[in-house]
Amino acid sequence: AVERTLSIIKPDAVAKNVIGEIVSRFEKADLKVVEARMQQLTREEAEGFYAVHKERPFFNDLVEFMISGPVFIQALEGENAIQKNRDLMGATDPKKAEPGTIRADFAESIDANAVHGSDAPETAAVEIAYFFGK
Ligand code: CMP
Repeated sequence: AVERTLSIIKPDAVAKNVIGEIVSRFEKADLKVVEARMQQLTREEAEGFYAVHKERPFFNDLVEFMISGPVFIQALEGENAIQKNRDLMGATDPKKAEPGTIRADFAESIDANAVHGSDAPETAAVEIAYFFGK
């Protein structure tokens, strides 16, 4: 089915000047950018976005990292978009990511891991609405 998913190119990848290279991978996989915005997240916005992780030990480091510089936020649309984007990203920890994935190629650590992508249809809907409204 045609789905939408939320993608965030994180501050590390923006600082590396690889927004275009990452978006190009989405496009080559037939994912279409249907919404996009460059944004410096406030602490409140980052905490709200990652609210499900609030009790996790990495929450504060995650929020600090996500507000350390601008991010590039997109909604991607295409056949099986949620899983397709997850396959393109590779494992959360870049050390475990398959060669050729975005995180294997561009990420340094589990915190600075280049991209975020929604993990399921329910979270995709919530995450897209969080940044782009209904
Ligand atoms: P992301 O897909 O943006 O969702 C939550 C983020 O928390 C994750 O990518 C990682 O960058 C970060 N994180 C840091 N430590 C962990 C961990 N142990 N498990 C999962 N995510 C982690």
